[in-house]
Amino acid sequence: MKAIICSQYGGPELLKLIETKIPEIGEDQVLIDVHYCGVNFPDTLIIQNKYQFKPPLPFSPGGEIAGIVSHIGRRVNNFKVGDRVVALCGWGGMAEQVCVKATHVFPIPSSLDMLNASICMYTFGTAFYALKNKAQLKAGQTVLVLGAGGGVGSAAIMIAKLMGASVIAAASNKEKLAYCKMLAADETIDYSTENLRDKIKEITSNRGVEVVVDTIGGPLAEEALKSVSWNGHYLIVGFASGIIPQIPFNLALLKGCSVHGIFWGSFAEKESNSNNTNFIQIIQWILQGKLKQHIHQIYSLEEAPKAIDDMIQRKINGKAVIQIKAEQFSSPTINNGINSSELTKKTNKSSNDGHKLIINGKDAIHQFIGSNIGPGKWITITQKMINDFASTTQDNQWVHIDEVKAAKYLPEGKTVAHGYLTMSMVSHLLFELIELNEVNSFYNYGLNKARFINPVKVNDNIRLKAILENVESQSNGSIKLFLSCIIEIEGIEKPAYVAEIISIIN
Ligand SMILES: NC(=O)c1ccc[n+]([C@@H]2O[C@H](COP(=O)([O-])OP(=O)(O)OC[C@H]3O[C@@H](n4cnc5c(N)ncnc54)[C@H](OP(=O)(O)O)[C@@H]3O)[C@@H](O)[C@H]2O)c1
Repeated sequence: MKAIICSQYGGPELLKLIETKIPEIGEDQVLIDVHYCGVNFPDTLIIQNKYQFKPPLPFSPGGEIAGIVSHIGRRVNNFKVGDRVVALCGWGGMAEQVCVKATHVFPIPSSLDMLNASICMYTFGTAFYALKNKAQLKAGQTVLVLGAGGGVGSAAIMIAKLMGASVIAAASNKEKLAYCKMLAADETIDYSTENLRDKIKEITSNRGVEVVVDTIGGPLAEEALKSVSWNGHYLIVGFASGIIPQIPFNLALLKGCSVHGIFWGSFAEKESNSNNTNFIQIIQWILQGKLKQHIHQIYSLEEAPKAIDDMIQRKINGKAVIQIKAEQFSSPTINNGINSSELTKKTNKSSNDGHKLIINGKDAIHQFIGSNIGPGKWITITQKMINDFASTTQDNQWVHIDEVKAAKYLPEGKTVAHGYLTMSMVSHLLFELIELNEVNSFYNYGLNKARFINPVKVNDNIRLKAILENVESQSNGSIKLFLSCIIEIEGIEKPAYVAEIISIIN
């Protein structure tokens, strides 16, 4: 089988894709044909020998997978060959096959695809355990999430919102915060430019926050602890910054607050009944379309070292996934009798190929709330498009159309597309990502929260990705779709444009 192998400790550049032996199955294990492996922060640590678990060399990273059972150990009687399962394997998941103890393997509901199943346990499990079992979060309370754009941070935003809380998302740049807003964070703080404590005081009118979810540690931890309200909760989830803070205990005394260590893996082992109860709720939310982890990018097995490096470089919003083998998934017929709508999964390795939303009948759209759509194909913004837009709108500013002057005076020597041209591309790009069957009409109706983040220059390639945030049935029988859209520029990390687009289906 093929596997990504760590044979010496160090950075992801030392990982190698090699042909290796299929692992030998133990009597209490199942062998799984891995389809998808979620990338998690421990993958960045385990290859550097910095994680609490230290498998002997050589080993494959990857602790959260989805796949199909291909062999059963002698003492396993609760799985059969062919079962679709998710598993927490600790390591070994970035490979075509992995052996996992049957107690760490769980069946996937038939209406959930393996891609999304492969990222539903670790971050959702941690965030829900922290907020529910430890902080006992109540509706109306305010939660501060540090490292809010990451896997656990995103999960904490979504789950806190589902529990009725307000969320302040804190992250290191505007794009991550725009992403957190798309996940429904109420307020945002850019901790690379803003003073965390002052901003929390301003947002909460000096009251402070009831709960802090800290995934990063480092110097911000003390500021965050000082921002906890009386009787509040500080949840120590992780130290992604690499710095374990040394904080004076008197701060907790003065706040009358509780400081909780969060170790979800141990909770899942030691309190497996409570963990199972949590999972039933998580899966229900997912199947109801209320909870869905954002997939930043799907990487091939060869690209797994890049996925781990992107995580180290703080580039991932939500989750990265390694695709080892694609699943051709069709959701079963839904219970309103309309034949299944489905999110088709393209199987190409290219990360340009994302999900196309196929809507068969307008009433079927509700089940896709929370779905990621796209990204679509790259398209090039040419000078002709810019010129045509200028002549239609009579906006003839030289930065857009005067190539000679642009070459002389603009930093990259290129003309810049009108922001409204980029914005107007959304309709065109969106229609390529949504296929409509059995509906009378679909049109773009309005726009919310539009922001231009980065200029698009002539000959830049742009593409669209979107999240179906919400769906509202109207009294006239039509359905309003709320789509968070992001236009990306190739090779540039900052998006060009983010907005919530409102469309109507009849
Ligand atoms: N206790 C548990 O049971 C448990 C379970 C799961 C995860 N964890 C831990 O929780 C932490 C977050 O995990 P995750 O899956 O959310 O990771 P992630 O997706 O990589 O997100 C971590 C976030 O931390 C921020 N960050 C700040 N300094 C960083 C640095 N030097 N390197 C990388 N990121 C940095 C980044 O946001 P900005 O760029 O916006 O600052 C990043 O988005 C990790 O330490 C992980 O081990 C603990």
